[in-house]
Amino acid sequence: MPRTAYVNGRYVPHARASVHIEDRGYQFADGVYEVAGLRGGLFMDMGLHMARLERSLGELDITPPMSMEALKAVLRETVRRNRLTDGYVYFQITRGVAPRDHAFPAHARSALVVTAKRIPPGRFDAAMESGIKVICVPDRRWQRRDIKSIALLPNILAKQEARAAGAYEAWQVEDGVVTEGSSTNAWIVTRANTLVTHPAGPAILNGVTRQVLLQAAKQADMKVEERPFTPEETYEAAEAFISSSSAVLLPVVEVDGKKIGQGIPGPVARKLRELYEAVAEFSP
Ligand code: PDD
Repeated sequence: MPRTAYVNGRYVPHARASVHIEDRGYQFADGVYEVAGLRGGLFMDMGLHMARLERSLGELDITPPMSMEALKAVLRETVRRNRLTDGYVYFQITRGVAPRDHAFPAHARSALVVTAKRIPPGRFDAAMESGIKVICVPDRRWQRRDIKSIALLPNILAKQEARAAGAYEAWQVEDGVVTEGSSTNAWIVTRANTLVTHPAGPAILNGVTRQVLLQAAKQADMKVEERPFTPEETYEAAEAFISSSSAVLLPVVEVDGKKIGQGIPGPVARKLRELYEAVAEFSP
């Protein structure tokens, strides 16, 4: 079935969906985005995605093109037109189209693009069973990673470095500590069975999946520490894993060529993956 995208007020064939060359997203990466999962026709954690989108927009002084309720209706309609039940929606808001000038335009109307993509259920089953490999790379990003900006050049370079090294993800390291992956949050489980992940703040994107997993872990009385950890601590960890909206959680079995724990997915990662289902919000 041909895909449909939403571009600035119109539903158009995906293959012909386009924006103006002076969209500030295209010229300056002047915009923000969200990726939310869809499972069995229901959005996953949409409340948290919407809250983060509003926050990102506010931090950059971009006026939303419509209310968050209206945006949700567009997301639903995009899903409906694509007859999608499992996959994700991508929604991006830029500052809009205006003659090229670094300073904000006086009158631009912000621009909205929505796409929907199918992910077959079970797409991540094999990676969940085998675990994934990670390499550490320098964190070359700006100082406001809490804003989900579409400016992702350092992230894509980091991911490409991982792929070239035969790894799935790159963990970015700054001042000797792991901040997060190129498109995922980073976690370890210490040998004392404590769950550790970098604290929220300007240094990382506060992942929606990260927030839900933290809540699930606390509800299950697991020991949790939101603090920075080093690559060296990772090599010695019992387990490691990544989290993001697309895959939820994937165990990490090797970092920089060193086996983590037994070199196979561990029990804490498995348990958290299950707990996620009970704590996550599924909504129409
Ligand atoms: N990436 N950190 C970064 C830098 C990310 O880009 C993402 C999400 C995450 C995880 O956040 P969440 O749990 O809210 O998906 C962490 C999305 C999926 C992407 O760019 O495709």
